[in-house]
Amino acid sequence: MPNAYISGTGYYVPPRVVTNSQLRDVYGIDTTDEWIRQRTGIVERRFADEGTGPADLAKPAAEMALRNAGLTLRDIDMIVFATLSPESAFPGSGVYLQQKMGFCDIGHFVPALDVRNQCSGFVYGLATAASLVMSGQHRHVLLVGSEVHSAALDLSTRGRQVASLFGDGAGAVVVSATDEDRGVRGWALGADGRYAETLCQRVWDMRRRPFIPVDERGVGQVVPEMMWAHMDGRAVFKHAVERMIGALMQVFAAHRLTLNDVDLFVFHQANLRINEFIREQIGAPPDKFVSNIERYGNTTAATIPILLAEAVEQGRLRRGMKVAAVAFGSGFTWGAAIVDW
Ligand code: UT7
Repeated sequence: MPNAYISGTGYYVPPRVVTNSQLRDVYGIDTTDEWIRQRTGIVERRFADEGTGPADLAKPAAEMALRNAGLTLRDIDMIVFATLSPESAFPGSGVYLQQKMGFCDIGHFVPALDVRNQCSGFVYGLATAASLVMSGQHRHVLLVGSEVHSAALDLSTRGRQVASLFGDGAGAVVVSATDEDRGVRGWALGADGRYAETLCQRVWDMRRRPFIPVDERGVGQVVPEMMWAHMDGRAVFKHAVERMIGALMQVFAAHRLTLNDVDLFVFHQANLRINEFIREQIGAPPDKFVSNIERYGNTTAATIPILLAEAVEQGRLRRGMKVAAVAFGSGFTWGAAIVDW
């Protein structure tokens, strides 16, 4: 059975920077730089321009990952696309990325799978991609996480609790087969559907007829409570801390690891306070953590692959290092993975 290692990483963030103060000055949100910084650690985020979807952000990230892996489109056997902000209800973003990258132009009709696990999407996707590689089914799986949150944020004072947290971006990795003693060692995934609506963006309700209410002209009417994300921030915070620590301890126990064995902790970036709290609880040194929430906010499924790609680019993540990636998000869903780089 081959091992599954990460052979290339890439990322892309849109160029437009939106600072905390600009949320107030440009969008008229009643907020302050101080409030957002103190509560979350976020200083600025990126917003994509109109006309840009998650597959557009994913394309340069994926191309960078392929270049860094020394591979071409023909080498890729499958696309796994993690996002909570797909272009449309269906089809998923994976097929848009396939078409944009030119797979179809060369007649390379690889399977494209979308993963819908929000902030845990990358870790769920990694478990999926690694399983396919380790089973011998595929040699190279392109795994991306990409989000365009800015189009679906209630950028008004009413929506400030959620709108101040999220940003746009994309990260990608190639998960490849190897006979070397390295790669994805294992993972622990979990979910608790009792909290499905504690953090959700419903938009429609498929149990209703029709699924979106219509006016007398048959035009769909989405009320604000359905249109925008709803979040009980305090409940999410509490569960995130508990579940991220739990998932990390689960993979540690399964692989007989201790804190000292890990060289780099790559945590989902929802709130700097969540990650600092966990770091203090488990007693890990700050220099073993990478962070980008200050610059990008919460980029959901893109967060962990962006962190990995930046760490590689900066020389902080090198061959032989042991990585612990941990995420928590809507669902609730969570996961942790151990990777020998
Ligand atoms: O990947 C998972 C995604 N989400 C998370 O992980 C989020 C986890 N939760 C959090 O990060 C925090 O709960 C938040 C940062 C979202 C909120 O921090 P908090 O300390 O829990 O604040 P709060 O929601 O209890 O709100 C305190 C006050 C409220 O005003 P009142 O009711 O006390 O008058 C809010 O209306 O702060 C107000 N507020 C804001 N004020 C200025 C909420 N958002 C803002 C804002 N600017 N952006």
